[in-house]
Amino acid sequence: MNKVNIIMKNNPGKNTKVSSALRTHGLNLNFQTQKGIIRAVENVDFELKDGHTTVILGESGCGKSSLARALLRLLPNNTANYDGEVWLGGRNIMEFSDSQFRTQVRWIKISLVPQAAMNSFNPVTKIAKQIAEPLLVHGKVRSKKEAMRKVSEVFDLVGVPQDFIGRYPFEFSGGMQQRAAIAMALVADPDVIIMDEPTSALDLLTQANIMNTLKKIKWETGVTYMLITHDVSTSSELADDIAVMYAAWIVERAEAKDFFDNPLHPYSKMLMDSVPRLHADKTPRSIPGTPPPLYEMQGGCRFAARCPERHNDCDREPPVFEPQPGRKVKCWLYKRN
Ligand SMILES: Nc1ncnc2c1ncn2[C@@H]1O[C@H](COP(=O)(O)OP(=O)(O)O)[C@@H](O)[C@H]1O
Ligand SMILES: [Mg+2]
Repeated sequence: MNKVNIIMKNNPGKNTKVSSALRTHGLNLNFQTQKGIIRAVENVDFELKDGHTTVILGESGCGKSSLARALLRLLPNNTANYDGEVWLGGRNIMEFSDSQFRTQVRWIKISLVPQAAMNSFNPVTKIAKQIAEPLLVHGKVRSKKEAMRKVSEVFDLVGVPQDFIGRYPFEFSGGMQQRAAIAMALVADPDVIIMDEPTSALDLLTQANIMNTLKKIKWETGVTYMLITHDVSTSSELADDIAVMYAAWIVERAEAKDFFDNPLHPYSKMLMDSVPRLHADKTPRSIPGTPPPLYEMQGGCRFAARCPERHNDCDREPPVFEPQPGRKVKCWLYKRN
């Protein structure tokens, strides 16, 4: 391993009490469409613990990418409402002006490996130059030479061979482009990296290789990951903590080991039952139906229409209950009597 200039952050052990790297409170993101307002992120409270990997798990269309956009303030033009609190390093960054956010937060403190990252590079500019750009723009380095040195270090870290430095995007395979996108997210030594379905467009072997690389990077840098995926098996590889998202809500939060042993929310249970297992006696069961469209949401629990445990309470929106310390679940089944 080359000497990498990335600051070694604490790599907290499983039982260490860790501070939160990022915390949200009442975060909302709505879009205006012809059909009405889409509530893509609603009243989201969660935290990313320092040095941990938090997996955001949920089917397609549940608002996971919108949550990433909300955290990075990458808002589409039809944004109708964006509010709430996002705490980072003791400050509510929702109060930052756009220019403060651009110069102090995005790419520097929180970076993104976007969904379908392999299409995110400009095809006519060498990838290394594109990776170096934020360093130069934000004055993180004094010269182009220094920027390229940094790119070369992150290429080593993510496993892109050095001779790719002079290459254009079309000269990278899908897997290599994905590694380059991870390099770009790492280059400015952020505290938090948000990865949106980082391996879902890749073949299984490449997926496995990239997951191993992500583990190695986490081990070597102590960076905090937020890993978005619809795939339970991907999540189990890296997760320290889990947040399950359904129809714009976070419906369950738990430490990964507790979650995989015993998921609490009926949606989480069905997600877990949908996973094929090597030595299982049960065949995997897919979840009937689809997540609801996110406009004109009715009151009540949004999972009720698909829920095998639906009962009278479910006509009202459930609050978040904490049935065991450290486990939060937005479901009436856990109401304390
Ligand atoms: N700019 C937008 N305008 C309108 N609707 C959007 C926009 N972006 C996302 N959506 C809708 O918001 C919902 C959540 O989308 P998304 O955050 O991409 O979910 P996920 O990443 O979990 O698949 C979907 O119904 C999607 O169609
Ligand atoms: Mg998405």
